[in-house]
Amino acid sequence: MTDIGRKPITKAVFPVAGMGTRFLPATKAIPKEMLPIVDRPLIQYAVEEAYAAGIREMIFVTGRHKRSIEDHFDTAFELEHELELANKHQMLEMVRSVKPDDMQCVYVRQPKAMGLGHAILCAESLVGNEFFAVLLADDLMVGKRPILQQMVDVHHQTGGSVMATQDVPKAQTFRYGILDVKGDKQQTAKIYGMVEKPDPEEAPSTLAVAGRYVLSPSVFNKIRTQPRGVGGEIQLTDGIAALLMEEDVYSYRYDGKRYDCGSKEGYIQATIDMALEREDLAAYTRAHIERIR
Ligand code: G1P
Repeated sequence: MTDIGRKPITKAVFPVAGMGTRFLPATKAIPKEMLPIVDRPLIQYAVEEAYAAGIREMIFVTGRHKRSIEDHFDTAFELEHELELANKHQMLEMVRSVKPDDMQCVYVRQPKAMGLGHAILCAESLVGNEFFAVLLADDLMVGKRPILQQMVDVHHQTGGSVMATQDVPKAQTFRYGILDVKGDKQQTAKIYGMVEKPDPEEAPSTLAVAGRYVLSPSVFNKIRTQPRGVGGEIQLTDGIAALLMEEDVYSYRYDGKRYDCGSKEGYIQATIDMALEREDLAAYTRAHIERIR
């Protein structure tokens, strides 16, 4: 284990350059990460999860319509001024809390949509030589203890890279990065191989990667030297598959739930469940579900 493996994780990378075609026309003019679940955009849930894990530097890899994400994590002078004048203190607090004072946001542009691996590579100079987190905002992850915090704990115990994983039905392996853990059923298991979106017959298991990673900086060189993978894209999975030949990479079966908000079904589920979690909306939502059953 290297020395850098024991240091706190201070940086998180959010690849947010995707087109979000599955949510057209809603995503024609706004990024899919700005779609709200109840009243917070998806990206805010991911940023809050990283913040809860002790991370203070948020690195967004953006694409052509980045403005609303930057604006969301910026000060809104006019809005704040109006709320202050109107004595709407609670609302003012809520608006200000989107970006706590000790949180820094930086933006880097991915010039071309060349895949998740390529997006991560765009953050290389901002990350430098330390372990870092990656959060895919369209996977909304909830747990009693925030999922990324659980993973940072595993990273500190093992000193290696960590991926959040879950078992999926065999027929769905073609949607995920699928891992070979040599049959290990432990919550934390060493990874021996990894394939991006295999057909069910070729999948090494049904253990799938969810959109949370704690990665060694060595992954950058590995991504850079991989040929284009599935879909003609530079895949993060291929970079990690090369990394695990040289460094320890672990699968972590997280305690919690994942909503695939890149799909309409997952988005609807998340909206209902998050409303049920809310003090101000739970009773109404439950009554409505009862009414329409
Ligand atoms: C990406 C990754 C995949 C992972 C998935 C989790 O795929 O490439 O390995 O399992 O996120 O959501 P995408 O959903 O962007 O196609």
